[in-house]
Amino acid sequence: MKTFPNDFIWGTATSSYQIEGAAAADGKGPSIWDAFSSIPGKTFNGETGEIACDHYHKFREDIQLMKNMGVKAYRFSIAWARIMPTGKDTINEAGIAFYNELIDNLLEADITPWVTLYHWDLPLALQLEDDGWLGKNITDYFANYANVCFERFGDRVKNWITLNESWVVAILGYGQGVFAPGRISTSEPYLAAHHLILAHAKAVQIFRNSYAHQNGRIGITNNCDWREPLTDSQEDKDAAERALEFFLAWFADPIYKGDYPQVMKERLGDRLPKFSKEEKVMIKGTSDFFGLNHYTTMYAAHSDGTNKDTNVYGNGGISEDQDVDLSLDPEWKVTLMQWAVVPWGCKKMLHWIKDRYDNPNIYITENGCSYSDELINGEVDDQERLNFYKHYLESCQEAISEGVKLKGYFAWSFMDNFEWASGYKMRFGLHYVDFKTLERIPKKSALWFRDVTAKNSVDF
Ligand code: GAL
Repeated sequence: MKTFPNDFIWGTATSSYQIEGAAAADGKGPSIWDAFSSIPGKTFNGETGEIACDHYHKFREDIQLMKNMGVKAYRFSIAWARIMPTGKDTINEAGIAFYNELIDNLLEADITPWVTLYHWDLPLALQLEDDGWLGKNITDYFANYANVCFERFGDRVKNWITLNESWVVAILGYGQGVFAPGRISTSEPYLAAHHLILAHAKAVQIFRNSYAHQNGRIGITNNCDWREPLTDSQEDKDAAERALEFFLAWFADPIYKGDYPQVMKERLGDRLPKFSKEEKVMIKGTSDFFGLNHYTTMYAAHSDGTNKDTNVYGNGGISEDQDVDLSLDPEWKVTLMQWAVVPWGCKKMLHWIKDRYDNPNIYITENGCSYSDELINGEVDDQERLNFYKHYLESCQEAISEGVKLKGYFAWSFMDNFEWASGYKMRFGLHYVDFKTLERIPKKSALWFRDVTAKNSVDF
């Protein structure tokens, strides 16, 4: 049996576009995901988040399900265009009212809200009028939006996450074009990322300068897979390190050390924008905790230049900038996303963060897996998911006992939902959602998770 610290936070997570639906209800403006998913061919089966899990109307029921599961914290995101339809100026009071009710109902159920300000659903107007994350003014628009959220919700919300997975926004949205806004480029990702980091820092500055009395905390969530050197050679070890720097240190170094990693500066030259002296000072130290989304592991090897095709679901980033070849061990089991199940990679990832960033408090804000779950006789026996959680949590517990300050864990996801370009086929949830009737059914893993959170320990 592995016991977790007494104050360990057990939670579950979702994001607005993936669950809310009600895409145009009560004055909400369109987002880039509404637009992107409406273009034939961009998502599996042409599926969209127009209705999704209809959480906008069913949130009370969902909170009850969370309560039954015993989770103490719920991470959700605010749809920027629901409270500011064009992304700037005008506030939609109906949107504010929705989040007020959601927050109040959570608190009543004794569930602590963890709010992400941006989980990819940029107001479409900002894309059309200001070039999305490529325009410099976006950093101020985001800061103003964040200010509205702190002002309206900060009396009750004490845990804020500015951005979810800037790497995905930059690489999949502006590099590979597989996510909204669908742009393909080898330079735009670095510009978009630059603005994302500045936007984060400006929001944190406002929070600290004007809302200190709220006694909340604020951080950012980045994502990273583990990269294990394919061989013991120095070249492969360097390649694995380089891959992690291009993945996670790209965003975490400016925040924890004040600038981009040296290796990125050397390899990218002018494609990597520069922070001014003042910006470096503003950015450094802008995270009260280290938010990590972690799903999988790949081997990394030095690329001899012949095989540049390292992308498995885009996880290689812009591989030619790194000279890294990625591969899977044929022995590893994979999920429906083709992501390898490698629990020890999670522990190594946590240690890497501990060592590089001076042992920060870490929260795993997402970890989970997709399988083609089926409802049979009213039950979903998702044993593979249960095993996934068991072994990843074992790895987390070991990391804690070795000195990693992991403080909480949020399972992705609370319920099956719209999995971006993959539509509704990838079932990630602890609850099975029947997308015809929108009924939610707890899976075996949800019942197991309930026991874990109740006992604060995992049996092996
Ligand atoms: C993350 C993302 C989530 C969810 C998850 C599973 O990258 O933040 O929204 O889609 O992956 O693919």
